[in-house]
Amino acid sequence: MRARPTLLLLHGFPQDSGLWAGTASALTDVANVIAPDLRGFGADRRAVPPVMTMDRLAEDILQLLDERGVDKVVLGGLSMGGYVALAFALRWPERLEGLLLCNTRAIADTAEGRDAREATARTALRSGVAVIARGMLPRLLSARTKRERPDLVAAVEALMARQPPDAVAAAARGMALRPDLMQELHRIQAPTLIVTGDQDELMPLPTSEAIHRAIAGSRLVVLPDVAHLSPLEAPARFQATVRDFLTSLPHA
Ligand code: MLT
Repeated sequence: MRARPTLLLLHGFPQDSGLWAGTASALTDVANVIAPDLRGFGADRRAVPPVMTMDRLAEDILQLLDERGVDKVVLGGLSMGGYVALAFALRWPERLEGLLLCNTRAIADTAEGRDAREATARTALRSGVAVIARGMLPRLLSARTKRERPDLVAAVEALMARQPPDAVAAAARGMALRPDLMQELHRIQAPTLIVTGDQDELMPLPTSEAIHRAIAGSRLVVLPDVAHLSPLEAPARFQATVRDFLTSLPHA
């Protein structure tokens, strides 16, 4: 009988594994789904250093896989989770069975972007994450989602506002240190699915198209009327897309 792949899903910033609740329960028949809270987020209570780089978060993921005895994984990440997934994919390609990159990018921050990260870190520590959540919310969801799903708008704000300030500050500072990975992407050999929304202002479509061009054989799916949170804004289309990807993998 065909064994099921392990799908490990990494949330974005400043979120927790709640991002993936619907996706995880919808795909249990085709994969063993693991959706951890990244260090310091959600229910994770590990100590957080002042700066949490994407490489350091990727090391946590390697440790998690080792602890669970998972040799090969289909690794998925949304936005910041995608940064971590890319860092992992480039360091431990032999552990990768597939790669799922959602609403993310491989380029580094601009100088202006890095300054904004520091401001975010300070705001989180001084004023709390609710302030960050309120500021980010308008750009995360499409006009249609905001119009038609006020319940989801409120849930996304609550998901972000509940994150601990120290984890948020450390991750913001860590994201600022991301290297530009565009020239490294050609090394990725694993089957890769890229999913984004046509209304994503934070990761505009050309950033996903560039990843698509750089990873040979990758597939790009652009969800209409969706902004930055594809799994929440278009759950049925997102889940069907990931399901097709998982069942197409040459899993032993
Ligand atoms: C995220 O959703 O993880 C963030 O928008 C990523 C970022 O700020 O670069």
